Amino acid sequence: MKKLALSLTAVAISISAATTHAGEVEVLHWWTSGGEAASINVLKGLMEEEGHTWKDFAVAGGAGESAMTVLKSRAISGNPPAGAQIKGPTIQEWGDLGFLSNLDDVAKQGEWDSVLPQVVSNTMKHEGHYVAAPVNVHRVNWLWANPEVFRKSGASIPSTWKQFITEADKIKAAGFTPLAHGGQAWQDATLFEAIALEKGSEFYYNAFVALSDDTLRSDDMVDVFRTFKKTRDYVDTGFSGRDWNIATSMVINGDAAMQIMGDWAKGEFTAAGKKAGIDYVCFPAPGTSDMFTFNIDSLAMFKVKGTDNQKAQQDLARLILEPEFQETFNLNKGSIPARLNMSREKFDSCAHSSMDSFLASSSTGNLLPSMAHGMAASSMVQGAIYDVVTNYFNNESMTAEEAVDKLARAVKASM
Ligand code: BGC
Repeated sequence: MKKLALSLTAVAISISAATTHAGEVEVLHWWTSGGEAASINVLKGLMEEEGHTWKDFAVAGGAGESAMTVLKSRAISGNPPAGAQIKGPTIQEWGDLGFLSNLDDVAKQGEWDSVLPQVVSNTMKHEGHYVAAPVNVHRVNWLWANPEVFRKSGASIPSTWKQFITEADKIKAAGFTPLAHGGQAWQDATLFEAIALEKGSEFYYNAFVALSDDTLRSDDMVDVFRTFKKTRDYVDTGFSGRDWNIATSMVINGDAAMQIMGDWAKGEFTAAGKKAGIDYVCFPAPGTSDMFTFNIDSLAMFKVKGTDNQKAQQDLARLILEPEFQETFNLNKGSIPARLNMSREKFDSCAHSSMDSFLASSSTGNLLPSMAHGMAASSMVQGAIYDVVTNYFNNESMTAEEAVDKLARAVKASM
């Protein structure tokens, strides 16, 4: 009798799923590391609870360079996924091409205009209409450190890039790798922009947002390149091509002292069962404590066919903004919720510091878009900067003056 009741319930559930018009969403993303996969799985679970089918389209590769290439070929062949992890000005580029779906109804119901900070909602709109849903806000200018390695080396956490060099020398002398780094263009650019940020928010803005030729050619920029090249003395010999999460694991394991990386690195510490303030510590990147380089992850929605799939896509957008998803996703991901006024209770000290800094920097003009993570300029300009930065880092004979000249030329040619 019990068996029959159970199977009747199963039939009822499947009928109700069918009548609620279950659809399918294919979602393109590059969240494949431990912390990242745990985060995106939260969304998959929520969609499946609503009766929809989640088709995972993961393309590995930090910062999404490979994912963007795959997305272009799928879109050109007329078969884009329902949702794709796209950020910043790139959302506008896809919107201009007419590929994106309108999410205004869901946004109105969920009051997105009032629950999102303006810097976030502006990025999610194309010509005034919502076309993407934000999952988080990452802070990029972070330094992650293993306190035990610092203690054994007699070194202190550096609060300027000048001090970074002094402390890194001590760490190297004690037999540890001072800087965990992966030699990939986007990781080089992440380090480079953190060094540039120490010159101040005006310098950073003029260089990477306004793309001012004077700033790109300035003595300060020469200095930034010099410091950047100097940091290469503190990475290990195996750094070339290394993935960012492998670099994070060097800090987790105590082989390396620190990593300059956005707070997705915290997702790796969390996935490894490590606790902030005990097993690892987070500090703003040297000389940048009152500044915040932001990187907002979002799923842009592409036009899809079929009413069930369209309904599934709208549900996906709705779920992303719900507090339940925003909390669990961001606890795993290392970022902070995109949504305002969420409870802080379950978040750790690094997240609290990020939340405070996000609010404080928004009123001082020190909240700046990350160039390395596609928030500041078009994908063409970003690519041009990546090329110069990474070539310089790996070319011993190129001088900082030559790099500055190449940078200014490359930016101009890509505008
Ligand atoms: C993305 C993060 C991601 C990181 C490493 C960044 O550009 O915004 O979500 O974890 O790249 O892949």
